[in-house]
Amino acid sequence: MPGSRSNASPNALPRHVRIPHVTVPPPRLLTVRGIAATWRVAAQVVADLPRGGVVALQGELGAGKTTFVQGMAQALGIQRPVTSPTFTLCGEYASGRQLLVHMDLYRLRTPDDLLTIGFQEYLDRQALMAIEWPERAGDLLPPATIWVRITLTANAHTRHIRVSQGGPPVA
Ligand SMILES: Nc1ncnc2c1ncn2[C@@H]1O[C@H](COP(=O)(O)OP(=O)(O)O)[C@@H](O)[C@H]1O
Ligand SMILES: [Mg+2]
Repeated sequence: MPGSRSNASPNALPRHVRIPHVTVPPPRLLTVRGIAATWRVAAQVVADLPRGGVVALQGELGAGKTTFVQGMAQALGIQRPVTSPTFTLCGEYASGRQLLVHMDLYRLRTPDDLLTIGFQEYLDRQALMAIEWPERAGDLLPPATIWVRITLTANAHTRHIRVSQGGPPVA
């Protein structure tokens, strides 16, 4: 009889298949007015990531991605000013708590080039990575990546910030 050769239940999983337990919180949709308000959101994201991780920052040029990373640095007590790493792709900022790595992948040619700038080593060291233009990384970003999408509004001082997990937001 077909299927009668195995005693295993059809729903039993092979032992080596591990199902990660990922709890995906609902996205947070915020409207912030002024840089200090953006920094408060950044500090909250840092507080939620006590042992490193990846924060992917989406948004057009001028949206406020680097400003957000500056807020993350401030929350970590980093004194050195965070500047755009556009030409070097990557800047390291040491803090007593954890290493902050700021990447701007705008000029990344292929996702594999991310590995040549030490992405895997940073993950292994449990660095906190803040990545602008994360779309350039293809599917290399871990599932637990925090996605922060910043959008400009009609008001020059105001931004919408969407914080989510479980893959880039579709809309
Ligand atoms: N929440 C905010 N409110 C007002 N101005 C902001 C805010 N966030 C960023 N800005 C301003 O927008 C400009 C671009 O910010 P920046 O962080 O460099 O953008 P991006 O890295 O996305 O290109 C800067 O002049 C910055 O001061
Ligand atoms: Mg920037």
